[in-house]
Amino acid sequence: MWLEIFLASVLGFVIYWFISQDKEETLPLEDGWWGPGTRPTAREDESIRPFKVETSDEEINNISQRVEKHFLTPERFRIKYGLLTSYVGEIVHVWNFKYLIWLFQVTALAKYRDFLHSLIWLDIHFIHVKPPQLPSSCSPKPLLMVHGWPGSFYEFYKIIPFLTDPKNHGLSDEHVFEVICPSIPGYSFSEASSKKGFDSVATARIFYKLMLRLGFQEFYIQGGDWGSLICTNMAQMVPRRVKGLHLNMAFVLRNFFILTVLLGRRFGGLFGYSKRDIELMYPFKEKFFYSIMRESGYMHIQSTKPDTVGCALNDSPVGLAAYILEKFSTWTNSEFRNLEDGGLERKYSLDDLLTNVMLYWTTGTIVSSQRYYKENLGQGLMAHKHERMKVHVPTGFAAFPSELLHAPEKWLKFKYPKLVSYSFMACGGHFAAFEEPELLAQDIRKFVSALEWQ
Ligand SMILES: *[C@@H]1O[C@H](CO)[C@@H](O)[C@H](O)[C@H]1NC(C)=O
Repeated sequence: MWLEIFLASVLGFVIYWFISQDKEETLPLEDGWWGPGTRPTAREDESIRPFKVETSDEEINNISQRVEKHFLTPERFRIKYGLLTSYVGEIVHVWNFKYLIWLFQVTALAKYRDFLHSLIWLDIHFIHVKPPQLPSSCSPKPLLMVHGWPGSFYEFYKIIPFLTDPKNHGLSDEHVFEVICPSIPGYSFSEASSKKGFDSVATARIFYKLMLRLGFQEFYIQGGDWGSLICTNMAQMVPRRVKGLHLNMAFVLRNFFILTVLLGRRFGGLFGYSKRDIELMYPFKEKFFYSIMRESGYMHIQSTKPDTVGCALNDSPVGLAAYILEKFSTWTNSEFRNLEDGGLERKYSLDDLLTNVMLYWTTGTIVSSQRYYKENLGQGLMAHKHERMKVHVPTGFAAFPSELLHAPEKWLKFKYPKLVSYSFMACGGHFAAFEEPELLAQDIRKFVSALEWQ
């Protein structure tokens, strides 16, 4: 009899263990308080207010004076130890002549309607673009797109028409989207947190509430850079609400994978790496080790002492432009670091690049945007629960060949077991939506089709 009880208990425990293993863990949907001072007792104003990006003669004169008074280190020899000073000089020239008509660009920004909405006592800025026309018997699919650093909601300006109005942009109207692009709190027009600890999970919570407030019970989400992490956290928080998660970058590197990469050249097939994976990952020293060393200095600074360098950047528009544009150069294509002009105008117009810089400068948000690294990475890697959690939402991934670190399908599947589409993209790097809007839009559509087909 005791033996039966014992065996039954063991069996019960084994069954419980299996079930609990299978349990899809979710991130708690807590209620944070990020505004200044103590939490007011009054109910939060939940209205959504139209918002317009504005400038004034005074603002333009201020920038103009600072740009004119810039001082650049004389170049003693032409070698690239970062962005070439003489090229920065050229940008400044353009800025003085053309760009100071920020007023004009503000009109360009007004292409889409902006809104402000107070959430958890922070003012959140977003643009909301509805399809100009809809085929009959078709409702638009809500899609939240989240930017990263040093980008902004402006990165999505060129991809939006491919998603909201595909027919007029050479794509079929099988999927028509309604696009919402918020600004991360502390970036451009979204208010920065007044409390320490505002990280990707807190951001995910706010953006989820924004979607609910806009009336979307279920939606698609998309992101690269911080946007990738924020969207991943949303999927971990409210998996039933997220119909699909599409990423063009993923935080999936594990120690074990590094070991397989070291051995992988010879035994690649054994570890599940495809021929294309091998092309994108080797030579290991160059594409992995040196690449991380060369490109992660900023991350070390920003996740330890963001305010110190922030003082300088917030005081000089030219310094700020150099700091931000260097990222747009090397993260678009690592080979661009060898070009005198950083290759910036091969993929972007200076107007678009400087609009993004101006969004940081005019709002004075470079410091709060850098603090986001401290809040997310300041305690070290893998310090947060969400980093060890899997994601149980159908996922699509676009692997752009010039992304900083290639993420093979094998790695993606470990974190995102419901990976339904993985694409090797023809060209493009880290700022996919900004650089290759049509390709990214096509992959989002491919993913949504694969999902609906299932
Ligand atoms: C222009 O600069 C002055 C002095 O630095 C400052 O007090 C003022 O707030 C600035 N105005 C705008 C609109 O940026």
